Amino acid sequence: MKATAEAPANIAFIKYWGNADANLRLPHHNTISMNISGAKTTTTVEFVSSLSVDEVFLGGNRIDGTGAERVTEVLNHIRKMSGSKLFARVTTTNSFPTAAGMASSASGFAALAVAAASAAGLSLTEKELSTVARLGSGSATRSVPDGFVEWQAGTNHETSFAQSLYAPEYWDIVDIITVTDASEKKVSSTLGHSLADTSVLYAGRLATMEKKIAELKRAMVDKDFPRFGEIIEEESFNLHAIMMTSRPSVLYWTPATVRVLQALRVWREEGLLAYATMDAGANVHVVCEGKDLDELEKRLKALEGVKKTILGRPARGAHLVK
Ligand code: DP6
Repeated sequence: MKATAEAPANIAFIKYWGNADANLRLPHHNTISMNISGAKTTTTVEFVSSLSVDEVFLGGNRIDGTGAERVTEVLNHIRKMSGSKLFARVTTTNSFPTAAGMASSASGFAALAVAAASAAGLSLTEKELSTVARLGSGSATRSVPDGFVEWQAGTNHETSFAQSLYAPEYWDIVDIITVTDASEKKVSSTLGHSLADTSVLYAGRLATMEKKIAELKRAMVDKDFPRFGEIIEEESFNLHAIMMTSRPSVLYWTPATVRVLQALRVWREEGLLAYATMDAGANVHVVCEGKDLDELEKRLKALEGVKKTILGRPARGAHLVK
């Protein structure tokens, strides 16, 4: 009745923004990501007969509100699958700042899905676990399989799941998470998704996704880093253009964000290749090849407004630890 799981955060190279079905968190198109070491969640789920509600503890503190409701939604699904009526105590810890555009919901709900299924005595496939994780948070779908991952958009609960494209060892690239702001983000991704189609640019984004996904996959097959980098940086700017032109407008960037973006351009001119991708927050994920990591980390840390860097190497997906 008790299990513990660990799951990595992931950085999306092709982003999820906007829902075809908001309740089921079905995206409009496939998305592609890499699971990252250095930013993970560990979650223990225990079904306890004396509880009359689910109890959720994050970093030692009991949480309620939307966060706890989303946990209960995932647990309800597990209860339905297992036929159990028991409530659960969920204790979870993150190795990185929560809700600061650092995918805490992705690692959190992936770890929850794996721990809860096991605690309930279910033995689900990786594909099924990724669908359960999705009910808590869309990006969590991708934190279940190993390494480099594609989330198939699908058309219903069963068909919207993630699969590994490549094992973590496939490609020595690193996400240098450049933290410029570790505070709680002002606009949640869930709200942001609901605003996506208020941007006049959104239809244009959707019309080009299929081609972009095919191009990115080609660059991954070829391990063509400059091509890969150009695509992911364009994709991230495309996403932020939607955010900025939504009604109301959502602007996650700070002066330090822009300082990092400008620096990468200057360094690329010098032949030091690194590309930016950003989620719903002010932090910049600087993606580079392993050989350039030390130099880039040194330069990034010297920039004004950069608080720290966290290294995200390609990592395995969610798994049981106890
Ligand atoms: C910008 O998965 O956090 O990071 O399903 O509402 O929890 P919810 O949204 P979430 O959205 C992720 C948005 C993104 C892009 C991405 O990771 O694909």
